[in-house]
Amino acid sequence: MEKITVVTPTKQYPILLEQSFDGLANAIKEQNLSGRKMCIIADENTDKLYREVVKKELQKVADTVFYHCFPAGEQHKNLETISNFYQFYQKNRFDRKTVIVALGGGVCGDMAGFSAATYLRGISFIQIPTTLLAQVDSSVGGKTGVDFCGAKNNIGAFYQPELVYINTSTLKTLPQKEFSAGMAEVIKYGCILSPQFFQYLQQQKQNILSMQHDVLSEMIKQCCLLKAEVVSKDEKENGLREILNFGHTIGHAIETISNFQLLHGECVGLGMLAVLELGKKRKEVTEQEQKEVQELLAYFHLPLCVNSVSKENIYQQMFLDKKVKQNKISFVLPKGIGEVYTTSEVSENEIRKAIDFVVKI
Ligand code: NAD
Ligand code: GLY
Repeated sequence: MEKITVVTPTKQYPILLEQSFDGLANAIKEQNLSGRKMCIIADENTDKLYREVVKKELQKVADTVFYHCFPAGEQHKNLETISNFYQFYQKNRFDRKTVIVALGGGVCGDMAGFSAATYLRGISFIQIPTTLLAQVDSSVGGKTGVDFCGAKNNIGAFYQPELVYINTSTLKTLPQKEFSAGMAEVIKYGCILSPQFFQYLQQQKQNILSMQHDVLSEMIKQCCLLKAEVVSKDEKENGLREILNFGHTIGHAIETISNFQLLHGECVGLGMLAVLELGKKRKEVTEQEQKEVQELLAYFHLPLCVNSVSKENIYQQMFLDKKVKQNKISFVLPKGIGEVYTTSEVSENEIRKAIDFVVKI
């Protein structure tokens, strides 16, 4: 078992990396959460695949185990689904000691976490991420929330879990397309923080694609270490944490305008390519560096362009982003591979050209 500790001003908690659910009951005991009501929140897919095995583990330490399932997909990441959660919590008299257990991908974790952050002004929750994206990114760091009126994650809270329990063997059932989407966030860490990690991904790409266990575990561990470090230094995104949004400003806009036909990770990949192009025009990224990122994304079957969305709508959508301040969009821009900087000094022309690079009509 691997253990990484996240330390923030509001909470300290472990990320545990395992190959099964066997250590879950013990991990919960160690976090002093035994003897409570626990509620598994899962979407229809993770409910079918993993609810029973997780329930068995929870029954070893819980007072009673409840479960609630919601329809899968980003289109259900909204307040209506959250309202259904609250109704279930209230009907079953969940109190301040109840523990919410998010069993699924980023959509599940973000919503279960948000419901925990707000029900009775905050109850405990555990993340059990089952997609690659959730294991390397969304389960760590306490961003929770929902989409609202066409704006991604616009309602939410920073609320840290008590525990992140990663069972890497759940990736065996993950569809290839979802695995690829997760790889975009993995590649992001190399681009923003670590040229060494980027090289590791290039060297190990075959083993990653064939899901060679040791390599996959090491890759997930490195991502969690990098994210834990950033979140520990800047829990509420007052500065440094913004770098984790690399590729997200244009990516989120494409995701929304495509009406969620493209996966979040796919859009992050497109967003990264767009800002790399912007960086190349600024002579802060070389053609070779841009090509290397492109090749890695392509190797993992991620799209390099999209053609069914309106460029103008994407441009306008970007102004609904959470990072817009006084009508200026904050961008995370690359300096080669492994370093980024944040700026709102980006011209309309630069933004439009960056969008042109990934949106072909
Ligand atoms: P998701 O949660 O929708 O999961 C993708 C699909 O995979 C779903 O259909 C799900 O049912 C299925 N699935 C999950 N685990 C499975 C498994 N082991 N086997 C088979 N199928 C499985 O999507 P996602 O890509 O995990 O997460 C995307 C969401 O995460 C977006 O809403 C994004 O905004 C959010 N996000 C949040 C953060 C954060 O810091 N909170 C970071 C990145 C992304
Ligand atoms: N995925 C961006 C963040 O957690 O800050």
